[in-house]
Parts: sequence; structure tokens; C-alpha cells
Amino acid sequence: MEIKLVPTTAFEDQKPGTSGLRKKTKVFMETPNYLENFVQAIFNTIDVKDKTLVLGGDGRFYNKEALQVILKMAIANEAREVKVGRDGLFSTPAVSVEIRKYQTDGGIILSASHNPGGIEGDFGIKFNTANGGPAPESVTNAIFEQSKKLTFYKITDMPDIDVSREGVQFFGDTKVTVMNPVTDYADLMENLFDFEAIRSLFQKGFRLRYDALNAVTGPYAQEIFEERLGAFAGTVVHGVPKEDFGGLHPDPNLTYAKELVETMYAPDAPDMGAASDGDGDRNMVLGPSFFVNPSDSIAILAANYELVKGYAQGLSGVARSMATSRALDKVADQKGLAHYETPTGWKFFGSLLDAGKITLCGEESFGAGSSHIREKDGLWSILYWLNILAKTGLSIKEIVQQHWQTYGRHFYTRHDYEGIEVERAKGLMDNLKRRLASLPGMRLKENEITWADDFAYTDPVTHEMTLDQGIRVLFKDGSRIIYRLSGTGTQGATLRVYLEKYEPDASKQNQDPQKALADLIKIAGDIAGIAAFTGRTAPTVIT
Ligand code: G1P
Ligand code: ZN
Repeated sequence: MEIKLVPTTAFEDQKPGTSGLRKKTKVFMETPNYLENFVQAIFNTIDVKDKTLVLGGDGRFYNKEALQVILKMAIANEAREVKVGRDGLFSTPAVSVEIRKYQTDGGIILSASHNPGGIEGDFGIKFNTANGGPAPESVTNAIFEQSKKLTFYKITDMPDIDVSREGVQFFGDTKVTVMNPVTDYADLMENLFDFEAIRSLFQKGFRLRYDALNAVTGPYAQEIFEERLGAFAGTVVHGVPKEDFGGLHPDPNLTYAKELVETMYAPDAPDMGAASDGDGDRNMVLGPSFFVNPSDSIAILAANYELVKGYAQGLSGVARSMATSRALDKVADQKGLAHYETPTGWKFFGSLLDAGKITLCGEESFGAGSSHIREKDGLWSILYWLNILAKTGLSIKEIVQQHWQTYGRHFYTRHDYEGIEVERAKGLMDNLKRRLASLPGMRLKENEITWADDFAYTDPVTHEMTLDQGIRVLFKDGSRIIYRLSGTGTQGATLRVYLEKYEPDASKQNQDPQKALADLIKIAGDIAGIAAFTGRTAPTVIT
């Protein structure tokens, strides 16, 4: 086994985005040293010699090959141990579970999350720190700085390592442990939720349809729902991870999880439909002909914590990303809980969770989670819902409607304009920024803009400042419009427009959000000049 020092030239574009370094799969495959450089930059930043790491990915195209490169580089860089998921698989939440359980120095996740996979799709690599969460900006910036000055990387010249069987192997001083990717995760879920109650719900005939979208969560869902909880055989569909996700788009939303949505809106729909994304951290929950908005979902999870074994002792506080609707704030206010508003991206919840300031947190983008790990967690969210259903005996729709009656409804929608020319998207945002000061006072129909700013955040724990996190426009009646550019796309720019309006009157709560928000949607287009800047007259995806 020979250690090679391979001379390389640094890249200028390896700055991690909202969630790691994400590029077209072909960029990783066809640009010599592209993956190796980034991995060496991580290793240099954390000084990997004698450290222990968790390693795995969502099984997408190039997962297997990248995993071998990383293992060989970890051995050459003298890591103490790498804990690998069998067949190179680990969901993102499971990596977080393992880092915390075995107190490793961090972990590497191979995934581009909800972005399509395959040779024409996306690939990504993300570093998580010892708390189990995505590296904070101080670390990702340090990785980026390393990546810009690399002159060589280290790799061993050796045959591929067998990761198909669980067990321990040694290579030089480095231990490679191949683990069952599901067990520790499923055990943790069993500790947090009332499996007895959920089991009896299934025994009474409750029907769940869980769509793993041919991505990583299939084996997890199979073990938890069908084996441990006794749900009907066939509850899990598209349950075998495939390199190209079998052609499915691994994003659980109303547009992309089409088959599940059709099933749930058909006359004989099951009692609950649920899905997760490529790497298992997102969730979508549906009842028969009923969609649970993710912003409502996190508020409902928080409102019902007394019913759930792992949380019944109380919540220390809650947090949501700025763009997420303020439904969670209403719950926090009524229950006397501290609540926080962070920029987009899970990494901002990490310090609040570590400091014990919050127990639950969530984002509008189909993400919810808690202090059990430092990632959002798709199956956790679905189990939390099942726990509430089992304890209340109510349907999903009844739970949501009762929630609106108690706390009021936040009509909410997100309009995405994908694949816009980068210059046009920047132009739109720059134009908004220039006009910020002149927006307050502007009258629009009966409404009036009372506040407009460029969201900046100071972490209450680390005091790290993050600027430029989206334009917020607030209205007299409490409505909000938010504009921001995505930090996870790999092609062109994606403009996200988030719209929210509060309706306390129960008799007006059962409208279609697109109708309830129609005026605001029009105003959002006018204020930002969306059609003029982007050349688009309609969004690509509406959630
Ligand atoms: C998107 C979501 C964000 C989420 C991230 C990673 O980021 O909006 O909430 O944390 O994916 O799943 P964006 O593309 O908006 O930067
Ligand atoms: Zn994801």
C-alpha cells in the first residue's frame, strides 16, 4: 500500500453553498482532481490525522466511486477510523446520529439532497462537524480558503475496499468499520416516539403510504414502518435506493412527488401519505386530498409536544428560518416558549441546539427536526405525526384545521423561478436593494408597506454575523413577501418568492392559498419587476 503525493492545481470555485459543495455530477467525474482537492481541503482544515469520521451517501450516481476515493485519501492522511455505511449508504440524519453516538470528529455526506441524480444530475459533498451538524460558515470558509491554495493531495494506491459486508478492516493504522446504516437510527426513533401507540394504530387498520422515491430512505422506512411498527406490507413504495432514483425527482413536494400526490387525491386514498428526499432529511405529509404545509407542520409538531414521549417533558424553545411562516411564533407565544428566527439553512440552528436554547426547529422547505440530532430529519417528522395521530385518534385534516382554529391560519406559498440567467437574477435583487428605503409608505390597494429590509442575522450564541439573507417586505395587515436567491442550485439562479398572510377568522380559513394570496402574489411581481427581469410570467414550482 503506497501513499502517493499527487501534485494538483487549486480550483477557485469550491465554495460550499447552503449545504456543502454541489455541482453537476459530470463536474466531479470529469474534472481531474476536483473531488480529491475538495476532500484534501476538508482534511487539511480539520487536521484529519488520528481523527474519526463517519462516511456515507444517498446512493446516487458516483456515490460508490467518490466513497472509494475518500476512503483511500483518509488512509493516506492517517485518519484513525472511518465508519462507513454498508454499500456506502447513510441518510443525512443517520450520519448525524452516528457522529453523535460515537462522538466522532465529524462526518462526510455524499449527496445533492433533493436535486436529481444520475450522470446528467447533481452530486455533492458536505462536511459535518463533531456536533453532528453541517459545518458552520467559519469552517466552510476555512475549507474554501484551503481549497484555493492546494498544491497536492494524498491518496493510497490500493484496490477498492469492500464495503458490502459489515465488519472491521485495517489499512495501515486506519480502521475502516462497515456498519449497518439503519440500526442506530431506528433505535433512536424507538426511544423518541411511542411505538406501542403507533403499532396499535396500524393494527386498527390505519393505512400509510410512504414513498422513498428510490432514494436512501427505503431501507430505513422498511425497517421502521413495516418491521418494527407492523404497518401493512407494501406501505413503503419505491423502497430500493437506485443510482438515478429510477428517474424520479427526489424532492418531496406537490410538483415532484407526483405519484404519491395522485394517490392521496384519489377517492380511495390511504389515511396518510408521506415522502422524503434523496438523502432523507426532508419530509412531506399528506392526508386524503389534503396537503400539510411544512410551515404549518412545524407549528403543529411544537403545539402537540405533550403527546410525544421524547418531548413530553417540555421544549426549551423553538426556531424557524426567516422565510418560514410565522405559524410557529403563534404557538411559541401561547405556550410561553422562546422563539428564534434564523437565515435559511440548517446550519444556523446548530448553535441554538448546542446551547440548549431550542428543542424543535423547522423550515418551510419541508424540513423539521429537533435536538435529537443536528440535521433536519424526514422520517422523524413523519413518526412525530404518526405519534400525534395515534394519541389523538384524529385525522390529519382535523388536526390541521383545529390548529388553525386555535392559532389562526398563516396562508403561505413559495414561488420558485428556476434556471434564470444569473445576471438577471442579480439585477432583480440589486434593484430591490437599491429601492429598499423608498418602499415603506407605498400604498397597494387597501394595504401599505410598513417595513422593508435586507435580512441580516447575528447568532445569539456565537455572535457570528451573516448578511444578505433575503429581502423582507412587511405590510400593515401583517402580510410578508420575501425574496431570496437559492444557494443550492447548480445551474443558473433560482429566485424564491415567499408569501404569507395571517387569517384569524375560522370562517375564512378553508380557501386555496393561491386564491387567498392572489393580491399579494400580484404585488410581489410588481414590486420586484419579476416578469421584466426574469422574462418569466409564471413560476416553475409552486409549493
Ligand atoms: C434550500 C432550502 C433551505 C434548505 C436547503 C437544504 O436552500 O430553501 O431551506 O435548508 O435547501 O435542504 P436554498 O436553495 O433555498 O438555498
Ligand atoms: Zn435533503
